[in-house]
Amino acid sequence: MCGIVGYVGGQRDATPVLLEGLRRLEYRGYDSAGIAVQNGRGLTTRKLAGRVQALADSLEALPVHGESGIAHTRWATHGAPNDRNAHPHLDCTGRFAVVHNGIIENADALRTLLERSGHRFTTETDSEVLAHLVEEAPGTTLEAKVLASLAHVQGTYGLVVISAQERHKLVVARRGSPVLLGIGDGEYLVASDASAILGHTRSVVYLNDGDVAVLTPDGYHVLDAEARVQVRAVDRIDWDVEAIELGGYPHFMLKEICEQPETVCSTLRGRLLSADGTARLNGLHLTAEDRAAIRRITIVACGTSWHAGLVGREILEELAGIPVQVEYASEYRYRPQLEGPATLTLAISQSGETADTLEAIRAAQAAGSCVRGIVNVVGSTIARQCPGGIYLHAGPEIGVASTKAFTSQIAALVLLGLYLGRHGKLSRAAGQDLVTRIAALPDLVRCALALEPQVRALAQELSGAQNFLYLGRGVNFPVALEGALKLKEISYIHAEGYPAAEMKHGPIALVDERMPVVFVAPGGHVYEKVLSNMQEVKARGGRIIAITSEGNGDLHGLADYQLRVPSCPEILSPILTVIPLQLLAYHIAVLRGCDVDRPRNLAKSVTVE
Ligand code: AGP
Repeated sequence: MCGIVGYVGGQRDATPVLLEGLRRLEYRGYDSAGIAVQNGRGLTTRKLAGRVQALADSLEALPVHGESGIAHTRWATHGAPNDRNAHPHLDCTGRFAVVHNGIIENADALRTLLERSGHRFTTETDSEVLAHLVEEAPGTTLEAKVLASLAHVQGTYGLVVISAQERHKLVVARRGSPVLLGIGDGEYLVASDASAILGHTRSVVYLNDGDVAVLTPDGYHVLDAEARVQVRAVDRIDWDVEAIELGGYPHFMLKEICEQPETVCSTLRGRLLSADGTARLNGLHLTAEDRAAIRRITIVACGTSWHAGLVGREILEELAGIPVQVEYASEYRYRPQLEGPATLTLAISQSGETADTLEAIRAAQAAGSCVRGIVNVVGSTIARQCPGGIYLHAGPEIGVASTKAFTSQIAALVLLGLYLGRHGKLSRAAGQDLVTRIAALPDLVRCALALEPQVRALAQELSGAQNFLYLGRGVNFPVALEGALKLKEISYIHAEGYPAAEMKHGPIALVDERMPVVFVAPGGHVYEKVLSNMQEVKARGGRIIAITSEGNGDLHGLADYQLRVPSCPEILSPILTVIPLQLLAYHIAVLRGCDVDRPRNLAKSVTVE
């Protein structure tokens, strides 16, 4: 979950280009950073613990310039985050420098072998073995040495290598971790994702697993493990730098929360067919035979995407009448595969790079299941692994705590439910009514966002609490889970989400006058039941915060605080009820002085197991 950047060109100083790239990738990992550049005097490296800004300050104080170079921002997996373990890593001679994103699973064995043949290691990282392998490897060119080295490596990597001897050359390799090339005019870039290069070019080449690319100012070529030249398509990035700028907001998280009327709208754009009361999802590439063969659906995902999957279960079962199971991808991938062609496996992932979800897809594909993806990042590994799917078009999500992707994931699942439903039990009239309701969602989201001043005031009241309980039922139980996750992720307050009825079977023991209990209780077929659960908490002195909807009776006397979102069909309500929970977590975290966009110990996409 690190971010890697590389630049070769010779027309510009590499350092500022590399630093800007690191700043754009910092959401991927932010515990230490470093660069290495080539100039007439060999390789110059600077690395230290802390944020990219700390590196920038040190380069300001003692500048380093070069015509090409590599850089890295880290999310530590092996070896504590400190100056020594920061990347780039050098070999014994200092002639080769490497930056790496991923995990070298046989690093210990390789290290022992290399130490036995005299190599001296200076870090506790797994990645350092790469530099020594290249140093040890046969071959007269850097790419030959890298290819020979990778033959010994087990694990995942996105890496870039430079050498003091071969100026103006970068060698890049990918297996399991995302890497793309930026194709400029006489200059080339490397990055973990497009946000780091968008300021320089819109033309990118997504590398496949097993690819090794050689970049010089004169051009680039891609090789396979046998050094055979491979042809790779040049794609075009269709979003703007503004999308990855703060745009006047104090944090990306708040910006992304406030973008949701537009992002839900762009997920729906061109996909609602009111005449037929259905959805157009051409990217799914599901034939009539594929659809007819579906007997059940399995959703695989992690974190917030898993919560969206739980909402998706309710939606798909209601609209399409197909049984759905929702699996943690990390657990699913190690279970015996009982799925087959009669199962549609849906992989949900914002980043499209989550390792556990990717492996769950591969397991389902190996079992013959029909696999489709619901993904936000275009050209990501999961998007390319699935033969079809639904892109969210929510634009880049920079804040580590996922917000706009969640509401767009639910919007995509509603479209899928409509699509499958209309090919099954859902009537045209019911479909047409639903299309009207769905089309109204962006405006309703805008109304829900208008609750912000109330939420900010509520956050003042609650920011001192040490624990929270979030409760919901039916399609809003996953929203309770999501509300708790948002609060945990960015404010570090312990919070749990539970089905409201489940509370009596244990968690109610936690309830006292210090415990804020957030009920997600919009109108619907379980509303009365949720009111009784509120009574149970009230009876034990709990502080009740009710997220309810307009048109519901006044909860005065039962709830200490009420936040009313617009009313809508119950099946669509999670897109609205989650908004005040996102804002509550945000404002509590800000009041507690937390780094909202870069919460401790987290990273935006989890590319290692
Ligand atoms: C959510 O706020 C977290 N960033 C995390 O739980 C995330 O949802 C999870 O890692 C899955 O990521 P994905 O959607 O990119 O696969």
